[in-house]
Amino acid sequence: MKLLLKIWRQKNANEKGKMVDYPIDGISPDMSFLEMLDVLNNQLIEQGEEPVAFDHDCREGICGMCSLFINGEAHGPDRMVTTCQLHMRKFKDGDTIYIEPFRAKAFPVVKDLVVDRSAFDRVQHAGGFISVNTSGNTQDANAIPIRKENADAAFDAATCIGCGACVATCKNSSAMLYVSAKVSQFALLPQGEVEAKDRVLNMVKQMDAEGFGNCTNTGACEVECPKGISLDNIARMNREYGKAIVSSKK
Ligand code: SF4
Ligand code: FES
Repeated sequence: MKLLLKIWRQKNANEKGKMVDYPIDGISPDMSFLEMLDVLNNQLIEQGEEPVAFDHDCREGICGMCSLFINGEAHGPDRMVTTCQLHMRKFKDGDTIYIEPFRAKAFPVVKDLVVDRSAFDRVQHAGGFISVNTSGNTQDANAIPIRKENADAAFDAATCIGCGACVATCKNSSAMLYVSAKVSQFALLPQGEVEAKDRVLNMVKQMDAEGFGNCTNTGACEVECPKGISLDNIARMNREYGKAIVSSKK
């Protein structure tokens, strides 16, 4: 395949970036999108040019590191896949492909296609955990009965990989889908009940402090999420938040 890549290049967070054209040839339709970028970077290195910086780690849809906006869509044109799972057969020979970083105020560009998503870590640190007293009398988690529907919904919420596609896709740069998945995975289980009130209040407070926008129910996040995280989680987080506010006023 012969392609024209239009890639966002930016030296660092302080300098202005711009789209740069990179014609590329000899790309196999069976390559992954990141392998195609590897080919480009090998060529750039051979020519003595600076390779394009982009994030990746597992390359199998698990870690959430790969974060490209491809032809105006987070993780590209395929559904329910991350950028590393996207294959070049989704494009046509001769295509022009626009490749940009995930853009949001809370995700500043570090270099080229790499953004700083540590805002997500700080939201997680604010409440995305349970505290367990390991005194020796701790009950085995497997001995606590949990309704199948709740276990399934908690598991689905826990599949969020923290990639940030929901934020990048949202016109308000809202992180509600991400935060609601992290709140839901605990809210649905008895182990999460003890700290439920503080968790939702603290995580939402941190989300707002990081500069993410508000949710206006456009639903774009759910469409572009590579893990199919449902908007139901946002409704659940709103209920949890309402309950926490009411109980803190009692
Ligand atoms: S909710 Fe989906 S899009 Fe958002 S961070 Fe989690 S996996 Fe990525
Ligand atoms: S590189 Fe890990 S999800 Fe894509």
